[in-house]
Amino acid sequence: MNHKTHWLWILLLCAAAFTQGQNGGDESPTESVDVTVKYNMRKSLDLDQKGCYLNAGNKDCLQQCGFNATAKTIFIIHGWTMSGMFESWMHKLVAAVMKRESEANVVVVDWISMAQQLYQDAVNYTHTVGKDIATMLDWLQDELDLPLEKVHLIGYSLGAHVAGYAGTHVRGSVGRITGLDPAGPLFEGVEQEKRLSPDDADFVDVLHTYNRGTLGVSIGIQQPIGDVDIYPNGGEVQPGCSLGDVLAMAGNFMDVMKCEHERAVHLFVDSLMNRDHVSFAYQCTDPDRFKKGICLSCRKNRCNNIGYEARKMRKRRNSKMYLKTRADTPFGGYHYQMKMHVFNRKQADNADPIFHVKLIGAHNDTEDIFVDVHDNSIGLNLTNTFLVFTEQDIGDLLRIHLSWEGDAESLYSVWRKIKSSFWGWNGNPSKPVLEVRRIRVKAGETQKKFTFCAQDPLKTEISPGESLTFVKCRDGWEVKPRKRLPM
Ligand SMILES: *[C@@H]1O[C@H](CO)[C@@H](O)[C@H](O)[C@H]1NC(C)=O
Ligand SMILES: *[C@@H]1O[C@H](CO)[C@@H](O)[C@H](O)[C@H]1NC(C)=O
Ligand SMILES: *[C@@H]1O[C@H](CO)[C@@H](O)[C@H](O)[C@H]1NC(C)=O
Ligand SMILES: *[C@@H]1O[C@H](CO)[C@@H](O)[C@H](O)[C@H]1NC(C)=O
Repeated sequence: MNHKTHWLWILLLCAAAFTQGQNGGDESPTESVDVTVKYNMRKSLDLDQKGCYLNAGNKDCLQQCGFNATAKTIFIIHGWTMSGMFESWMHKLVAAVMKRESEANVVVVDWISMAQQLYQDAVNYTHTVGKDIATMLDWLQDELDLPLEKVHLIGYSLGAHVAGYAGTHVRGSVGRITGLDPAGPLFEGVEQEKRLSPDDADFVDVLHTYNRGTLGVSIGIQQPIGDVDIYPNGGEVQPGCSLGDVLAMAGNFMDVMKCEHERAVHLFVDSLMNRDHVSFAYQCTDPDRFKKGICLSCRKNRCNNIGYEARKMRKRRNSKMYLKTRADTPFGGYHYQMKMHVFNRKQADNADPIFHVKLIGAHNDTEDIFVDVHDNSIGLNLTNTFLVFTEQDIGDLLRIHLSWEGDAESLYSVWRKIKSSFWGWNGNPSKPVLEVRRIRVKAGETQKKFTFCAQDPLKTEISPGESLTFVKCRDGWEVKPRKRLPM
């Protein structure tokens, strides 16, 4: 086993033992581990209610539990646990699934006794538990002609790989597996028989929320392992999960990791609950291109809904999809791609502007949003493409307010001014002047394109401390009238 991985998990276990005092790590020798998997079919939203247990081989339990073979069957599979109890996300997910699919057979797969062992032992049990689930599904097929295409396995963390093994071993192919931030350590880079993979179900969708390496390992698997792999916020820092945010909520270091890892579950719950506000993720070759706003297209299946509503797509492996989210439910926001040509006609070659845009909509306005071009600076005599994300629904976009931050407004610009004046003694001492005539906008959520033109056609020049207003002047992006086609 990789040393770094080993040390990371030892660190986690120590932290767990420390934070949980007497309840911490189970020190009993491994031979006492209970290897029975329990299938708890939920009848009530209250997880403290016992529910009803399915036992392969015992036909009576199917009747008692009210198992409906023609309805959907949804198995929810937890991951590695330090507490030896269901964590609070389980209650939320079960409740959301049951509300959404009131007729479905919702079954919680309980392998807690195996999952609370040392991480590497729990990894070892994923195969055993996956096989056990396959046996249960095979028995349901035999007894009830259960249609496997209506079976959906939802696994979080290690549970995602358990679902993968279940899909491998079941007779036939399950309809869908959803992996919620599948575990990374000991799974990253291994052959696909030993982790969740697209072959494990008709459709495998994966949400990746904790892709940041700590000591060189990532809690969530980084590589794409499904038919659709979605990386909210790049799979990097999830909004609301920074150390500062978590500490402000009286959390600790463990809670920071949990916040990001578990975010996958909460995004999925959000997709079950907020049906009228489905978020899209957009295919992109890398996260940096996405951050630049280059990838907001829905053509040729390049976008998909995130979470429960994800559409099954033609197998398109190793394609990564991205979106930005808010910090809390409802997580969905609004993405805009903007393109703006910045003319430099007055020798402002060293201008290095800092731009902000404010979007004015039919219902509300945004704050000033930094124009982040993700290279170093705004390109002059070039078309700059950038992504603007807004958290609230401003309604139809009516106007865009472009401002150039004045020299006195930030330390950064003061520093830049010092730098440029140091090098530019002989330069032009007057204010730099740049020109922007129009901004082209594409809204990701509606896929509509618009062109915004300077409100006053004579006022297209901008200098530090000044601003320009653009109004919608055209649907679409057409700049010149299209040449007439020969008849
Ligand atoms: C079983 O599920 C099907 C499909 O959801 C539904 O039409 C039927 O009414 C259910 N049967 C019972 C007894 O609930
Ligand atoms: C995994 O389990 C097998 C038995 O199923 C055992 O032989 C092996 O030593 C275990 N590996 C680890 C790393 O615990
Ligand atoms: C942009 O083009 C103008 C001429 O239109 C030229 O004077 C200026 O040097 C160019 N600036 C850059 C950075 O290319
Ligand atoms: C407009 O947005 C602000 C936040 O920028 C928010 O506090 C306010 O409630 C919003 N107003 C409406 C009508 O949505």
